[in-house]
Amino acid sequence: MNETVWLLKTVLQQEHYSSSTSWNTFYIESSTLSNFNQKENKFLKKFIEEYNPSSDNFHVLDIAMGQGRNSIWLARKGYKVTGFDSSIEGIQIAKNQAKNLNLTTLQTHITTIEEFHFGFEQWDLIVCMYFPIMNETSYLRRIEQSLKYNGLLIVEVFHWDSLSDEYIIPIDVTYRTNDIPLLFSNLTILIYEEPIDYSDFGNKLTKIIRYVGQKQYSHIYS
Ligand SMILES: C[S@@+](CC[C@H](N)C(=O)[O-])C[C@H]1O[C@@H](n2cnc3c(N)ncnc32)[C@H](O)[C@@H]1O
Repeated sequence: MNETVWLLKTVLQQEHYSSSTSWNTFYIESSTLSNFNQKENKFLKKFIEEYNPSSDNFHVLDIAMGQGRNSIWLARKGYKVTGFDSSIEGIQIAKNQAKNLNLTTLQTHITTIEEFHFGFEQWDLIVCMYFPIMNETSYLRRIEQSLKYNGLLIVEVFHWDSLSDEYIIPIDVTYRTNDIPLLFSNLTILIYEEPIDYSDFGNKLTKIIRYVGQKQYSHIYS
């Protein structure tokens, strides 16, 4: 697979986005890919720098962490970070980098979102970057339940409008306006933006969605 990876597949031709084989290939090649932002996500960085949570006991979960660009950045800031991904190659890169940096506050798991044990009221922040969050699966409620009281969920994804002839991305990683707040209907919206900015995957100026939701209740619900 060349550096266009999944971004240039047509909707009809695309392999299933969850294919770990495709993502393993992507991460093996990722250090040479010019269209993949290997640095921490800009929105996450700005949010954390402004919110500036104390690193004492601040637990972060990075959903589908990939090669760990966001997890590593957060762990370097002193937060306790757990991340998982179904790609063994992505996780291996993150583990190697954590080892080289002597980071002891990063835990990684090779698993799928369907199988990951999110726990209950455990995370101060959940990071979900460029992951196709599905409506029909039960993990949405598990994500909400696993946030602590006042816990935060930060998401960046492609907007539906980013689909175009010259810039073809899989349809199931795009969201329409308000899809993300609707998926996390039990969270309160702190930030919702639809800027035109460079996407971390594809490195194209396009419409993206940036969202932060907060759990403002502490009881469990069915
Ligand atoms: C676009 S990448 C985003 C990676 C990372 N969040 C980032 O922003 O760098 C999507 C990631 O989702 C992972 N993935 C896809 N389906 C998954 C699933 N069902 N469970 C866990 N990880 C999955 C892939 O292996 C890939 O690393």
